[in-house]
Amino acid sequence: MAKIKVGLAGIGNCASGFVQGLSYYKNPKNQKDSIGLRQTFLAGYHPKDIEVVAAFDVDARKIGKDLSAAIFSEPNNTLKFAEVPELGVSVHKGQVLDGLGSYLKDVIKVGASPAASASQVLKETDAEMLVSLLPGGAAKATQWYAKEALHAGCAFINVTPVRIASDSTWDEQFRNAKLPVVGDDLIDQIGATTLHKMLIKLLDEQGVRISETYQLDVGGGTESLDTLERSRDTKRIAKTKTIRTTLPYETSIVAGTTDYVDFLRNRRDSYLWIKGMYFGKAPMEMELRLCTVDGPNAGSVLLDVIRAVKVALERGESGAIQSISAFAFKHPPEIVSFRRAAQLFKKFLFEK
Ligand SMILES: NC(=O)c1ccc[n+]([C@@H]2O[C@H](COP(=O)([O-])OP(=O)(O)OC[C@H]3O[C@@H](n4cnc5c(N)ncnc54)[C@H](O)[C@@H]3O)[C@@H](O)[C@H]2O)c1
Repeated sequence: MAKIKVGLAGIGNCASGFVQGLSYYKNPKNQKDSIGLRQTFLAGYHPKDIEVVAAFDVDARKIGKDLSAAIFSEPNNTLKFAEVPELGVSVHKGQVLDGLGSYLKDVIKVGASPAASASQVLKETDAEMLVSLLPGGAAKATQWYAKEALHAGCAFINVTPVRIASDSTWDEQFRNAKLPVVGDDLIDQIGATTLHKMLIKLLDEQGVRISETYQLDVGGGTESLDTLERSRDTKRIAKTKTIRTTLPYETSIVAGTTDYVDFLRNRRDSYLWIKGMYFGKAPMEMELRLCTVDGPNAGSVLLDVIRAVKVALERGESGAIQSISAFAFKHPPEIVSFRRAAQLFKKFLFEK
């Protein structure tokens, strides 16, 4: 099958996990078992059909390097699980704008070279879609890349919590340009939010009345540091909202990132607590800790999203694609239940 040509903006931990994954699942030995993939084939596409053709960052330690080396450059600190051969894709400097908040200014060393025209690079490399993997607080920079994608005739995948796919003005711009846009804020493969929703659903189906619940995270990647300063509130609202959709009644819910613990590196520890009542109003409580590594946690879902966006491009679909967004993102244009999102995605893939 023809390659799916992708551009990446933001070569941090998430990009590292994704690029390593492309190399890992290309290996015939790993292809055989495909452990770790949610879908080996999606719409006939295998992960090996995906090719990164363009990359952008602002850190001097990544700009000008081959992507295979940039993903392992500081301050990236995620798990190394694959050897990545030279890819022939050099990292270009993007516009900094609000890419770095004050907490990241000492951690990320901005390169002195002038910014490239991202749209020109995307056109020259025949990229079909651009994925934004910028820090969560980088609203203006994410919007700049969305505009560059529009200029280049690329679809846009917004992994960040910045509002793009769920914003009607962007939906309209992509619709007018006859290009798809999906987002916002990717759901992890084994994320605390999904686990929290599943547990709440299970308890609800068992007749438990949940009265209070929270989900708190600590992490040690640069994204956790940036979240602490700039997107804690946005994330908290989005996560709380999505968990609320699971229950048919109002209850006390708090879900959101809490703190940065540098020595955890790219590990994320999520604490879940649920309190409720069951038969005869007998009390129950549940406590759970989920430990994951952030970077690889986005890889499998992103592989599915890229292949689904390719399908949307082939069908000429445009604007915010609700089915893909609801299935794979925490803040789609319309938040629906987990089951409904899965139905919409299946319908998108098989019934059109
Ligand atoms: N599991 C996951 O990793 C996961 C899941 C869901 C959402 N996300 C979102 O993905 C995004 C990336 O997460 P991460 O952990 O890789 O973050 P990160 O901090 O490791 O990486 C961000 C990268 O963006 C670069 N950058 C900053 N400003 C830029 C600009 N203007 N142009 C180009 N590059 C710029 C930084 O130098 C850095 O390399 C975040 O918004 C996060 O919320 C990640």
